[in-house]
Parts: sequence; C-alpha cells; structure tokens
Amino acid sequence: MTPFPLGRPARLAVLASGRGTNLEALMEAFPPGNSLGEVALVLSDNPGALALERARRRGVEAVALPWAGRRAFEEEALALLAARRVDAVLLAGFMRLLSPRFVAPWYGRLLNIHPSLLPDYPGLRVHQRVLEAGEKETGSTVHFVDQGMDTGPILLQGRVPVLPGDTPEVLEARLLHLEHRLYPRAVRLLLLGLAFPPPEGLEGLLGEEAARLFHRLSPREKPLYLRALALLRAWGKEELSGPAFLGRAGEWGRGAFIAAHLLAEDHPALRAELWALPREVRERALAALALVESPS
Ligand code: GRF
Repeated sequence: MTPFPLGRPARLAVLASGRGTNLEALMEAFPPGNSLGEVALVLSDNPGALALERARRRGVEAVALPWAGRRAFEEEALALLAARRVDAVLLAGFMRLLSPRFVAPWYGRLLNIHPSLLPDYPGLRVHQRVLEAGEKETGSTVHFVDQGMDTGPILLQGRVPVLPGDTPEVLEARLLHLEHRLYPRAVRLLLLGLAFPPPEGLEGLLGEEAARLFHRLSPREKPLYLRALALLRAWGKEELSGPAFLGRAGEWGRGAFIAAHLLAEDHPALRAELWALPREVRERALAALALVESPS
C-alpha cells in the first residue's frame, strides 16, 4: 500500500461494537469531501449497535457482520475492506480481539483507542482499577494495533486529572470528552504521515548512538521522537534526525522537537519558543501545526 500521506483523501473504516460516540466524533471530523480523509465504512460485530444507526443517519455505509467466530468475521471484514478500497481502519469501542491474520496486513494502518495511559491499565474495567489504585491522573491512548491486547506502539495520549469523589462513570464521561478530540487528531497525524510505528533499520537512518537512545525511550516517549523524525524528513532535513535526537542539530532540531510536541498538545510556553526560532524553521513548524489543527 502507498505510504501516508496519500496525496488524496483517505478512505477510513471504523469498527465499533457499541454506542459509537467516538465513531460520531470521527464522522464529524472526516465527513465526505474532507481533503484528508472520510469515513467511508462502518462495521460492527453487533447488529444492534447504536454505532450502526449513527452511521446510517449520516449516510455512511453501515454493515453488521454478526459474530460467528473470529475466522468468519475476519475473512468477511478483510474482503469488505478490500472491496471498499479502505486505507486505514479505526477501532472505536470494538470489543473483540483481532488475530494476526487481520492485524498483520493492516499493521501501521490499524488504530485503537483505549481509555488509560498505556502501557498502564490495558484490558477491561479500567476506571475502576484506576480509582482503586489511587491514581491522581489518567488519560486515553490512541495506539497502533499489534497482536496483543492494548500493546501496540503508542501514537498519541491525552491526560485528565482524577478528582476526589470521582466514580468510574464520572471518569468515563471525562475521558470520552477527551477522546472525541484526541482520536481525530491522531488520525490526522497518521494521514499526514506524521505518525507511524517505530520503523525497521533505525541504526542506518539515525546512526548507532541516536538509535540506541531511541530504543531506550519509554513507549510513551517514542512518539515525540518519531514525529520529530517525520518533520525533519518532510522538511528535507532527514540527515539531521540522528543529531536532533541527541540534541545536536541546532535550530532545525529544536524546531522539529517543539513542533513535534505541539502536534500532540498545545503548550503556550513552547509556542512562545517557536517565535524565537529563525523564520525559515518557524514557518515550517507553523505550517505543520496548521495542517493538524485546522479541519480541512
Ligand atoms: C471508549 O472509552 C474507548 O476508549 C474504548 O471503548 C469506548 C468506546 O466508547 N475503546 P464509544 O462506543 O465510542 O462511545
């Protein structure tokens, strides 16, 4: 498949099992005619899912594939994705585990959203467990799906506080608000080619010292570095990636890391720092931010 950015609107499929509020946010962010991509297909293993109804209301093709075992579901789903020329698949409250047969061909183009700060709290009953552990902060994670449960490389995370008196229901509602902005932003990063799983052969690209540094980063830190790498590549400065990882690439490296941070989350202090950079660097950085922030 062609790597992102495609140079044409991407065709997105969403898999959902339930109420579909994330689906709604994705359809809102990627309507027909959007230059970056549109939700073209919604699939559910649950024929009664509100998600299907939401899709139909917006005129998006909605298909129920009632669960008759993993193999049958995956074969039908894979065939449909191919027939509809889908470019990326977004799991949004999809309650089944997908096998390597499904995941492997879609790796790098298959995302999930999970309501915790992965790698903490994978699995179910997340809010209950977060409260029981006395956490003061939680969040949601958009990640690339691999063969495990909630284990794939992180693409984007958002945080919310846990407040005294919070219940699992209150936390869930707080996180849903966050997710409805987080997921579309993550998809924009994917479609713009600014987010991808750690590529093979980083030693060759970055040099040994920078690659070693990257491999030692935590799963939550890696996405920032990958976005900086993507930006430097897009700016025709790929040879600065290794030095930038080591903090030795001057203004271009700083600009790439500041922009990479702001692509995930706004930060007034970093925005101010951008203005102190040379005009050429600043303009590149602001152009990248505008692509992610303004719905096209
Ligand atoms: C969300 O909390 C999401 O993080 C999790 O499932 C829930 C789906 O909610 N994967 P909705 O169906 O999108 O409303």
